Amino acid sequence: MNKKSDEYVIEVKKADQITSREFEQIYAVETAIFPDDLRESPETMWESISNKKGIYLVVKNRKDGIVGYIFCVPHDDAYEGKQYDRMKDYDFRLEKDVTALYVGNVAVLPNHRRQGLFFRLCMQMIAEAKRAGYKRLTMHVRNDLSPLLQIIGARRFYSVSNWFESGETVDYLKFVIRSQ
Ligand SMILES: CC(C)(COP(=O)(O)OP(=O)(O)OC[C@H]1O[C@@H](n2cnc3c(N)ncnc32)[C@H](O)[C@@H]1OP(=O)(O)O)[C@@H](O)C(=O)NCCC(=O)NCCS
Repeated sequence: MNKKSDEYVIEVKKADQITSREFEQIYAVETAIFPDDLRESPETMWESISNKKGIYLVVKNRKDGIVGYIFCVPHDDAYEGKQYDRMKDYDFRLEKDVTALYVGNVAVLPNHRRQGLFFRLCMQMIAEAKRAGYKRLTMHVRNDLSPLLQIIGARRFYSVSNWFESGETVDYLKFVIRSQ
């Protein structure tokens, strides 16, 4: 298979533009990658996609369809929203921030990794967040991935161990979106 990055396109998706086939593909990515304790349910995933102030990007490949995604909801919806209602039990230092967009998750299927899709998804998310008027991105990221985000300018604030009882340690990061 020719693995050139131009085989892939990134699309911004709103809930009303997602077909049931596409949602199946998105959820197949989720189940292929995340263990039970870190996996969204189809309902909470749909809730994120349906958040009108959120941003949802998928990466598609002609052959395999949707092979990855990144999604964000307003930080304060993550702070207080139903789908993340246990977040403060794990990260008691988390504070509200009306100017920020929270990165809920990012994933790329194993066969499509190491071609820069993670960085492309992040860079396009930053551009979309800027267009939507957000001033920063916030995220909890597995600590082995946190250096990748620091490469693009995210700052690490602190770590949280045993995130959602998964045994994983995550870093809390913030990325400031420059105004020009
Ligand atoms: C993290 C993830 C999205 C990276 O996707 P990707 O498209 O392969 O990433 P990129 O190709 O843009 O990677 C850029 C660089 O990141 C590094 N990298 C990629 N995946 C990595 C991983 N799992 N661990 C450590 N470093 C990684 C590599 O240095 C790579 O550079 P390279 O060209 O030297 O290989 C993918 O591995 C994934 O879906 N993992 C499981 C889900 C997950 O952990 N999501 C984050 C939740 S916090």
